[in-house]
Amino acid sequence: MLYGGVVPELASRAHIAKIVPVVQKALAQAGITASAIEAVAATYGPGLVGSLMVGLTFAKGFALSRKIPFLGINHLEGHLFSAMLEFPGAEPPFLGMVVSGGHTLLVRVHDVGRYEILGQTRDDAAGEAFDKVAKILHLPYPGGPAIEQVAREGNVCAIKFPVAKMKVKNLDFSFSGLKTAVLYFYNSLSEEERQSRRADIAAAFQHAVCEALMRNLRRAVKRTGSQRVVLAGGVARNGYLRAVAEQLAGELGFQLFVPSAEYCTDNAAMIGQVAALQLQRGETSALDLAPVPNLALSNNS
Ligand code: KG4
Ligand code: ZN
Repeated sequence: MLYGGVVPELASRAHIAKIVPVVQKALAQAGITASAIEAVAATYGPGLVGSLMVGLTFAKGFALSRKIPFLGINHLEGHLFSAMLEFPGAEPPFLGMVVSGGHTLLVRVHDVGRYEILGQTRDDAAGEAFDKVAKILHLPYPGGPAIEQVAREGNVCAIKFPVAKMKVKNLDFSFSGLKTAVLYFYNSLSEEERQSRRADIAAAFQHAVCEALMRNLRRAVKRTGSQRVVLAGGVARNGYLRAVAEQLAGELGFQLFVPSAEYCTDNAAMIGQVAALQLQRGETSALDLAPVPNLALSNNS
């Protein structure tokens, strides 16, 4: 991408330009007309206010004109329930791990709308760390897929990057120290070494992130006795992470649900999934619901 990330103003303008064609395309693909829609949902946070506003306003207008219910959905709940799109068994109660560009969360999901946060990042999100390290290594944005690809040629054990040590009781995460360690290491190399060692750096970094995630997941499973774990969010597309999570599931004996790649990264289906669950409970949102850019995950959010 030209700007090496998302430019908020350009993002909201793109939303305005694309929302009608995207809805038309979705209706055409589903083989239905607007009159068949029974309810409409949109994300109301967390996220960029301009983009949230476009989706919310469109959804409210659609609901109002068709006289159908409107639901404002928390983006993080979308990720937590994304596995249910493909795996009906991924229903609450479960332990959810959301690893995305904006969040790293370990959550006990008791039910729809009933959450207990066990741990979250104190600085960078896991995906953000992938994006920043990709930048250091001069790899394209988004950094996750680029690092994963380069790491395939690398040796995980060639370099040992530090995994942030939190107090045993704590299930929080920290990735900024790891990013700084990669930066210092990279800066200490000659131009030639930067080329020849790039794959090893990518592999060792990816390994360190996965170590940190799995260490806390292990603790959380042991602490809660959870039988089911959902791993979701953009970083859950990562093949190495999926493999180590499978390994942990085998070792500790829990059922692991990880959505297919297209349902890991941000998608509308996961928002519709949460809306469907809320509708079943007779829950809808008021039409004056405002966007909340820093919306947290809380009970009945
Ligand atoms: O969930 P998502 O689509 O958007 C947010 O809600 O943030 O996650 C995007 C993040 C980006 O940081 C991207 O680098 C990361 O997911 N990502 C990956 C992979 N694919 C996407 N990280 C590691 N490995 C991947 N294969
Ligand atoms: Zn997301």
